[in-house]
Amino acid sequence: MDNFTFFNNTRIHFGEGQISKVTSEIPKDKKVLVLYGGGSIKKNGVYDQVKAVLADYNWSEFSGIEPNPKYETLLKAVAIIKAENFDYLLAVGGGSVVDGTKFIAAACRFEGPEPWDILEAQAVVNSALTLGCILTLPATGSESNGNAVITREHNKLAFNSPLVCPAFAILDPTTTLSLSPRQSANGVVGAFVHVMEQYLTYPVNAKVQDRFAEALLLNLIEEGPKVLKTPDDLAVRSNIMWSATQALNGLIGAGVPQDWTSHGIGHELTGHYGIDHARSLSIILPAVMKICRIEKEEKLLQYGERVFAITEGAIDQRIDQAIAQTINFFTIMNVPTTLNHAGLERASIEVLLNSLKKHGMVALGESRNNDLSRSRKILEAAL
Ligand code: NZQ
Repeated sequence: MDNFTFFNNTRIHFGEGQISKVTSEIPKDKKVLVLYGGGSIKKNGVYDQVKAVLADYNWSEFSGIEPNPKYETLLKAVAIIKAENFDYLLAVGGGSVVDGTKFIAAACRFEGPEPWDILEAQAVVNSALTLGCILTLPATGSESNGNAVITREHNKLAFNSPLVCPAFAILDPTTTLSLSPRQSANGVVGAFVHVMEQYLTYPVNAKVQDRFAEALLLNLIEEGPKVLKTPDDLAVRSNIMWSATQALNGLIGAGVPQDWTSHGIGHELTGHYGIDHARSLSIILPAVMKICRIEKEEKLLQYGERVFAITEGAIDQRIDQAIAQTINFFTIMNVPTTLNHAGLERASIEVLLNSLKKHGMVALGESRNNDLSRSRKILEAAL
């Protein structure tokens, strides 16, 4: 395996009732801004729990962070924080709220002319406000990584900095009981694809990373359908929540090649057509598996054997089966697996390719050989 340095600075408090740990994490002299989304936390009781736990703090709130958080909305929070000197951010919600809060944390301290440079020009983040989070949607791993994805018009761009990795994350699976079937499925599929993008490349004899990734895939395949059938099962919710965190906290990606092609193209699908993030991934990943099957052959066979017990047949047949099983899993989870399923036609391909070009996404994949002509093939395979 390749050399790596692994560090994850997020303290996790997992389990029912753990929202109370906020008081042991945020110093009492901090002025806290609670950030949340469109109001799901007011319906499921999480907001009331946060209010109770912050009773002894000087705090206020900022709501309205959208799914696929919008730059313009986040700048409003930046202005409030600067004007009123908040010095601790508490994100309460799904990946969008956590990502949005990360960007706000960095933008508040950004010294350049325009915080959009953090995304577009990948300006280095030298300082950020401290943030913690209470996660209510297991999917992105944002609760314990330094990534954030922000949208401005049709541009959905990402940045990464260890300075915005949450200092703590509360993972209370009871907060996820209110998720709709669609958001529950999105979470499972999103986490599944995160694992695949760090796993499905070429072997580097990284046995811990490989077997840990396979364990996460098996858990998600086992628990995913259950969450749709028995949404009130807290054990299922718990296993999904912890799997999703582990899927993108840096551990399985340490020292191994990675292929974020599905994300690169998927962000364009969301930016232009508003397709839910996880659904953009369930459309693109099967096509990546088909078009990149030669360079991924060894890992595709390993995936087929260890995750779906595919051991019989010629190499091509086994790979076909592994891809078919992946599509079958997504279908069971009720997510689209083609552009057509999502209501898109061939004409969308040019729009997506132009946008990939604009965003410099012209060398994707573990060997950076997914140029625009290859992305075209992937999109055509996804029709
Ligand atoms: O806004 P509210 O009212 O909270 O409603 C949200 C939102 O409408 C709702 N929701 C969240 N928790 C709920 C709930 N509804 C009922 N009960 C609950 N407990 O779910 C909807 C979607 O939420 P969102 O946060 O957008 O979903 P998700 O967690 O999937 O986050 C998606 C965002 O994360 C980015 C994506 O690109 C997208 O912008 N990603 C971030 C990554 C990272 N930081 O590492 C990696 C990911 O691959 C991804 O790119």
